[in-house]
Amino acid sequence: MSQTLDHPPAAPEGTVTLDERHLALVLDGRRRRFHYVWLRDNSWAGPDRVAQSGERRLVTGAIPPGVRPTAASFDAVAGLEVLWNDGQACVYAPEWLRRHDYSTGPRRRPRPAAALWPADAGNPPRFAHADVVGSVDGQLAWLDAVAAHGAAVVTGVPSRHHEVERFAQTVGHVREVAFDRVHDVRHDPAGYNVAHTSGELRPHTDMPSYDWPPSVQLLHFLVNRARGGDSTLVDGWAALAELRRDAPEHFATLCRVPVPFQLFSEDEDTWAENPMVTLDADGEVRLLRFSNQLAQPLAAPFDEVEAFYAAYRHLAGIIDSGRYRASFRCDDGDLVTVHSHRVLHGRLPYDPASGARHLQDVYMDVDDLLARRRVLRGEHKPLPAQTPGETA
Ligand SMILES: [Fe+2]
Repeated sequence: MSQTLDHPPAAPEGTVTLDERHLALVLDGRRRRFHYVWLRDNSWAGPDRVAQSGERRLVTGAIPPGVRPTAASFDAVAGLEVLWNDGQACVYAPEWLRRHDYSTGPRRRPRPAAALWPADAGNPPRFAHADVVGSVDGQLAWLDAVAAHGAAVVTGVPSRHHEVERFAQTVGHVREVAFDRVHDVRHDPAGYNVAHTSGELRPHTDMPSYDWPPSVQLLHFLVNRARGGDSTLVDGWAALAELRRDAPEHFATLCRVPVPFQLFSEDEDTWAENPMVTLDADGEVRLLRFSNQLAQPLAAPFDEVEAFYAAYRHLAGIIDSGRYRASFRCDDGDLVTVHSHRVLHGRLPYDPASGARHLQDVYMDVDDLLARRRVLRGEHKPLPAQTPGETA
């Protein structure tokens, strides 16, 4: 029986084999393959990096197609030593090769896994404000919850004007959008948005009227003494998982048909047209846009319109079903954190005459929260393939 490239005869540890366009290295008993152009591109040799930052100085587009080693060997301590045919000597440390090995499939920087809510989702996890802003462990616990669960409540936040902005700046950066940097949500008959009424706010995501809507929302209850107005959160990614499982054609329709959304005031306007669902390079849901109140007339091809409404009806039914939903009352000082590309938020109607109800909210981007998490975990600096000044 012939051997395939993926299952060659066993070779001793450290064996380097040069092929036409790539080399193979036996490391930890595994045959790992690396293309020459990829290895050359990822050189950490002195001339190829900006010394003070580790950024690439080598110009990727200038690597010739004929790049290849003139010599290559492996040392168990130093790693893979290559002399390239452009004269540059490079070292690739064993740990670096393990971390970046793509032989067995595309390597992706691991994103925290999303733990989709079960159909009988409980309320979001709660964290004390003093812990989140006062300790690394406390902040990491809250960041872990936002990353995995998509929502968390911070309790005991001082009911001070714009405290939510201070909180955002403590853990990352405010994502400024039209209208206001800090949005006031309270009963206001002249307000520009349905949130300023006292009626029910059906679960929705904010600002789909931006091509890249803000991906984190912080809702700080300065005071909540009104009767009614319980908060509702729905895991939109869990709802989409059910839709994808039961009606893949409806899921595909929502990934395909663009929907215009608009939010405007007397002085400002936001408008964007995108499919309601965006997938990432792995085919996983990255972004859900869902706002009944902001959707504008569909301008889809004639034959797509009824398919769209059928798919929309199906998803809206799941969102309204009560599955994947948390429903809870917020008190003074509660700050609801939502990964708003994933989790929809809303509220039940309330009686504005029964007591004060005033929220202030700001937006952030989840990139910055995940970055803060990597920094606090000490994971953000790249591993050099070789130490500065080291030569093969
Ligand atoms: Fe909203």
